[in-house]
Amino acid sequence: MATTISTHERLALHGGTPVRRALLPYGHQSMDEDDIQAVVEALRSDWLTTGPKVAEFEEAFASYVGAKYAVSFSSGTAALHGAMFAAGLENGDEAITTPLTFAATANAMLYVGARPVFADVADDTLNIDVEEARSKVTSRTQAIVPVDYGGHPADLYEISRLAEQRGLLVIEDACHALGARYEGRQVGSIAHMTVFSFHPVKHLTTGEGGMVTTGLAKFAEKLRCFRNHGISSDARQRQESGKWYYEMVELGFNYRLTDIGCALGLSQLPKLDRNLERRREIAAQYTSEFREMPGIVPPTVRRGVDPAWHLYPIRLEPEKFRVGRGEIFHALRAENIGVNVHYIPVHLHPYYRDRFGYRGGEYPIAESAYEQLISLPMFHGMSDQDVEDVISAVRKTVDQFQLRQG
Ligand SMILES: Cc1ncc(COP(=O)(O)O)c(C=O)c1O
Repeated sequence: MATTISTHERLALHGGTPVRRALLPYGHQSMDEDDIQAVVEALRSDWLTTGPKVAEFEEAFASYVGAKYAVSFSSGTAALHGAMFAAGLENGDEAITTPLTFAATANAMLYVGARPVFADVADDTLNIDVEEARSKVTSRTQAIVPVDYGGHPADLYEISRLAEQRGLLVIEDACHALGARYEGRQVGSIAHMTVFSFHPVKHLTTGEGGMVTTGLAKFAEKLRCFRNHGISSDARQRQESGKWYYEMVELGFNYRLTDIGCALGLSQLPKLDRNLERRREIAAQYTSEFREMPGIVPPTVRRGVDPAWHLYPIRLEPEKFRVGRGEIFHALRAENIGVNVHYIPVHLHPYYRDRFGYRGGEYPIAESAYEQLISLPMFHGMSDQDVEDVISAVRKTVDQFQLRQG
């Protein structure tokens, strides 16, 4: 079997002209003049930290996702920590999650003394495989923590059923999935607690920030207490009404989101649907192009799901290329396409290897997906030209590195 190499357009990596002059990042915030004005007004107000904008943002957010309560935090990571605490996880407990996530998901379990137990992912969505999760439940398991990878909701109903059968809580890490829908329902209204991030590459930003939504007052109360040093909110209200007395009832943290951040969040929230629409448009255009390209597997969308498209991760079929993922990644970067990789599986990080003895090979689907994944730029501020540039750069790179058999 002879192999011939295409001699098409020269890659920037090999001295050719890049598809674009300036680097297109994989994610970027959008900031309108009214967002800037909202922050300026907050700066001029009497409140910088917890003031009226915090409650206003929480109410508007809860109403958007269809949850009874929303409690803001200083980051998605702090929000995850709060959710683990509110769930009552402690030393000796276990919580089940996916290895294909940002380390913060599992780290939050460690913060409260619980052990993260990983369950491999489903090969299509790269979300936690519910049967794998089921096989990891022990008498110590307290929670399942699915991650909506890339913005595609996990199998939330199956997970809820498993949780119900085994008496577990579901804490959904929806840091990728604000605005996603599952069986017609908004993410944020399904799990016992759902965690969001407002980091600048997300659908809505407060600079740094996060939120937990829940339908249960007991969790909302714990979350509010935890983010404010463990001071009970009743005591805080007493204090605000002019009394000096307050009580610290839990070992909490200062995880409060500022009024400045919430003013920005409030200004961004009404634009969220438009931003999601743009992301969906970009994803549709990408998928219609990439589905035709040899060696490229676009992300799967399951029936009944409307993803939020935080990421657009393609997978490369290794047998279709004469170079590895690393070379293709560098070629795209040289074309000034800011590709990224999500994620190095958590158990393969040195900290997890050292602490828990992982050696690789434990989660074969997540590990092999990791070897094949490249996240292409995906953010609502992308112009049509940006989208075209990404498609051209991928086409050029595939063309050059494709293994042709003749
Ligand atoms: C899946 C997931 N969980 C948690 C986080 C943490 O969010 P933050 O950066 O707001 O702390 C991120 C951040 O990107 C994430 O992608």
